[in-house]
Amino acid sequence: MSIKIIFKGNIKQLKDDVLFVSIGPKNKDEIVKENAMKILYLKSEEDGKMNLRKFYMLIRKMVMMAKSTKAPKLAFNFEDLLFKNLKLTDQEIGEIIGTQLDFANYEFTDYKTPPEEGFNFIQEVFIFGTKEDVENAILKGDTIAKEVNKTRSLANTPGGDMTPTILAEKAKEAVKGLPVKVTVFGEKEMENKNMNAILSVGYGSDEESKFIIMEYFGGPRNEKPIVLVGKGVTFDSGGINLKPSSSLLGMNMDMSGGAAVIHSLALVAKMKLKKNVIGIIPAVENMASGKSYRPGDVVRSMSGKTIEILNTDAEGRVILADALTYSQKYNPKVVIDIATLTGAAAVALGERATALFTEDDELSKKIEKTGENTGDYVWRLPMWEEYENEIKGNFGDLTNIHNKDSRYGGAIYGAIFLHQFIKGYKWAHLDIAPRMTSMAGENLAQGALGTPVRLLYKFIEVDN
Ligand code: BES
Ligand code: ZN
Ligand code: ZN
Repeated sequence: MSIKIIFKGNIKQLKDDVLFVSIGPKNKDEIVKENAMKILYLKSEEDGKMNLRKFYMLIRKMVMMAKSTKAPKLAFNFEDLLFKNLKLTDQEIGEIIGTQLDFANYEFTDYKTPPEEGFNFIQEVFIFGTKEDVENAILKGDTIAKEVNKTRSLANTPGGDMTPTILAEKAKEAVKGLPVKVTVFGEKEMENKNMNAILSVGYGSDEESKFIIMEYFGGPRNEKPIVLVGKGVTFDSGGINLKPSSSLLGMNMDMSGGAAVIHSLALVAKMKLKKNVIGIIPAVENMASGKSYRPGDVVRSMSGKTIEILNTDAEGRVILADALTYSQKYNPKVVIDIATLTGAAAVALGERATALFTEDDELSKKIEKTGENTGDYVWRLPMWEEYENEIKGNFGDLTNIHNKDSRYGGAIYGAIFLHQFIKGYKWAHLDIAPRMTSMAGENLAQGALGTPVRLLYKFIEVDN
């Protein structure tokens, strides 16, 4: 349910189904009734103590508290939110508000029977005290949030209803009517292109593997494109190295990187950015069956390098190997891959940041800054050459996990493995496993987060 945003209203017009929010530094949050009007006094920091992280939370808290009162409509003054020490322009603040309103209002209800009174969403928001440039910025933020929320819905969809074939259909749907060309390879085409790494992971599934390509040429034809590569494992059972029961739930979301790429492309096209952007999503289901690839199998990847499979549950890096090889055909300016690659990334960072890997300090700084500004927080981990020793193969060129089966540095070895397939290119790897789902206290619905669509969009928008 997306919010209808109404500007230029008058407080006096508000009916009693509207919750008016007054934001300021108080001791506590409080909902009171004054002159037949419900008012939420929302506690904020004093101007000098506000920061961007707290600001994001404040907007989301406003939505969550309003939802808890079951108020279908919300009203507030834009001026209440102009914290000077954020050092942002009014438009920048407007864009954040627009994004966070819809981001916080989202819940995944596709599989729930609607209650008689309807689902508990904010339907309308009245914002007072805005000028046209701010209004446009708020609406832009709203457009961004809508794509983030669509990413969340794709990821939240149960595995049985989100196969590689369906994901490919969803990619086409996402950019319907937009100047994005979608090409989908089936297994035959992948065989012809020697994409054996992707094919191997998909062997165990009854579902056909797909290779999804999305092309948007909004910039000059001769300008090198930004290539986004997203892991599209529509269900990760672990394969023959079957996951324990406790780790299986949630593995329908192992296509979160792919979903983020799909809706980043849609957003870039909707906003008519004058950039060339390519999205690549290898989509497979990692299942255990008589046809599955096995521990000990040696797979010849599209690059020609052979991969010794030591663990069939480290499948993301295997499919991404071919996708990274394929990305080079675009002569890319930069390649960024996005993947729920390792539980180890969450062990390292907790659930509050995406793990970032790149050899390029400048690229790293840019991504870190964009992450901080958009709320898709990232933290860089090392990928020194020495780590390569532990993925040298016994019978193949590379092993897909640490060759001593050590659990140490799991996220780093994932990145080091990927790097072997994209050497010589400007490249960054985002391990979004830590940010796959929301945490308690974030003022966000349970389930998928749509990380890092906001970051990718801003990265592309400000790219020069
Ligand atoms: N999809 C998982 C990683 C994951 C775990 C994402 C939890 C989100 C939440 C990935 O394919 C995987 O299974 N990785 C293994 C790697 C190991 C076998 C080296 C892991 O993290 O345990
Ligand atoms: Zn796995
Ligand atoms: Zn996986």
